[in-house]
Amino acid sequence: MRIIAFYSPKGGVGKTAAAVNTAYLASRDNLSTLLWDLDPQGASSFYLAGAEPVKGRKLSKLLEGKSPIARFIHEDVYPNLDFIPAHSSFRNFDIKLEQEHDGNALKDLLAPLSEDTSLVILDCPPTLSRLTEQVLDVADKVYVPVVPTWLSLNSWDQLKEFVKDKKLGVKKLRPFFSMVDRRKNLHRDVLARDAGKLGLPALAAVPYASAVERMGEEGQPLEVLAPGSLAAGEFRKLWSGIKTDLWSR
Ligand SMILES: Nc1ncnc2c1ncn2[C@@H]1O[C@H](COP(=O)(O)OP(=O)(O)OP(=O)(O)O)[C@@H](O)[C@H]1O
Ligand SMILES: [Mg+2]
Repeated sequence: MRIIAFYSPKGGVGKTAAAVNTAYLASRDNLSTLLWDLDPQGASSFYLAGAEPVKGRKLSKLLEGKSPIARFIHEDVYPNLDFIPAHSSFRNFDIKLEQEHDGNALKDLLAPLSEDTSLVILDCPPTLSRLTEQVLDVADKVYVPVVPTWLSLNSWDQLKEFVKDKKLGVKKLRPFFSMVDRRKNLHRDVLARDAGKLGLPALAAVPYASAVERMGEEGQPLEVLAPGSLAAGEFRKLWSGIKTDLWSR
């Protein structure tokens, strides 16, 4: 079982859109995939299940060890794609993690899934918290959407510093550009100097596209909604880079 996360300390940069599209592409590649929405706001649910978002369950029983993780999983969204929806009680996740475990509670929660699951995808809230630390620790790779602006590049640098400080393994951080608007000079400029600014080549450059915005309204991954779009092509490129990261090295 491989575990990846979509994370950035910046809000609204395309983490959830990428997590959902990646989860769908992985499931289409016949990998048994689990998407866990760790954000109390629960946007993944809208992208996946549209008008009838899947309701999450309170986490307390899971954290107390009274209910196995399997009980929290919805299996009927797409074939090969399981989903743990968010719940507002995820807000308390951090406090509970601090109180109830010394080690990595998230790792312990995920361990029983390893027999039936090939890929776990964690969609994270834009916070730097104890939960985030555990995500950064447990994940084999962390995919970080970077909007080609100075502020976003700054967040990328800060994240690298944080991961270095905490000795979580800076090499697991993998950037990709998100919400790229090539009409903007700054975006074009940053993209042209990609590896120079990021320190690493970006895995993809997802354009700012109305089709991605529509994912929330229609409740469908981009590959279903607009497979011919440029953005869908970039999400496929991202997925292809992820596969190489996880299985070819
Ligand atoms: N490539 C894109 N083009 C256009 N709109 C996008 C794109 N990616 C995301 N969006 C839109 O921007 C908003 C934020 O996207 P998303 O929820 O994926 O970001 P996020 O980083 O997960 O946000 P949060 O930090 O709140 O969890 C959504 O309304 C989404 O539809
Ligand atoms: Mg999100």
